[in-house]
Amino acid sequence: MRLEDRTLIVTGGASGIGKAIAVKAAAEGASVIVADIREDPREGGENTIDVITTAGGEAEFMPVDITRWDEVDRMVSDTVLRRGRLDVMVNNAAAHGRSALLDTTEEEWEEVMAVGAKGMFFGCKRAIQQMITQDPRPGSEARGRIVNISSQHGMIGSPNDFAYGVSKSCAVYMTRQIAGDYAKDRIVCNAVAPGKILTGKTGPAISPNAIEYSHARTPWPRLGRSEDVAAAVIFLASDDASYITGENLMVDGGWMAN
Ligand SMILES: NC(=O)c1ccc[n+]([C@@H]2O[C@H](COP(=O)([O-])OP(=O)(O)OC[C@H]3O[C@@H](n4cnc5c(N)ncnc54)[C@H](O)[C@@H]3O)[C@@H](O)[C@H]2O)c1
Repeated sequence: MRLEDRTLIVTGGASGIGKAIAVKAAAEGASVIVADIREDPREGGENTIDVITTAGGEAEFMPVDITRWDEVDRMVSDTVLRRGRLDVMVNNAAAHGRSALLDTTEEEWEEVMAVGAKGMFFGCKRAIQQMITQDPRPGSEARGRIVNISSQHGMIGSPNDFAYGVSKSCAVYMTRQIAGDYAKDRIVCNAVAPGKILTGKTGPAISPNAIEYSHARTPWPRLGRSEDVAAAVIFLASDDASYITGENLMVDGGWMAN
């Protein structure tokens, strides 16, 4: 129960990796806010809230579009109103494009950056506005913790998704800058960078060719699961990680080491 009594928001918590983070956080004792533009998982299956509450955990769904400051502002204000504080903010929601540089339109760029860069900036800013007003919990060093979901893309190329790769490199930079600027305020800020994670979603990312290529690049004998990423997020969200800040933790089966 590493997150007992903690309040945790996860954006994009309806689907895939965000859902796994929400479920694991609740299993570790957190009161979880699932913030998303949809409630049903993109990959199908049971809603995050139903999974958590059936297991006896505490969770609430909030409809939030993270590209809008007024909605992010309301998300944090309502959370604090109901639960007294915000301990952990997980900025997980992201949008994909579909094009290499020369085919990337202004519209595609803006759609992807609105979620991956601007939405993450809003999430970090609003969370820290709240966190610096609260004392660390007894026994804890941090006033609050942020975990941003980056990607191996943004560190290496993102073929046919230029805007997405750029948005993910923004996540790594934002994490470092925030960690340095707000350590004195006892805010811990880290990122988790997934490699190839099979979330159950269909589409070109799991075409036979893409899977074969990912296996060839990944030293570990299997590809990633949403739960692999969730485990790293929970570690960074807990008091187990306090002198770790500004880090971008790869969860990629060794892809980037190879
Ligand atoms: N799946 C992978 O292999 C992989 C690899 C590297 C990084 N990642 C990163 O992990 C995170 C989760 O990936 P996933 O594959 O589970 O994604 P996903 O597309 O399955 O789920 C993303 C969720 O974000 C929500 N969302 C999108 N726009 C939103 C907005 N404006 N406001 C609020 N919610 C919004 C969606 O509704 C969806 O529920 C993302 O940041 C992604 O970039 C995933």
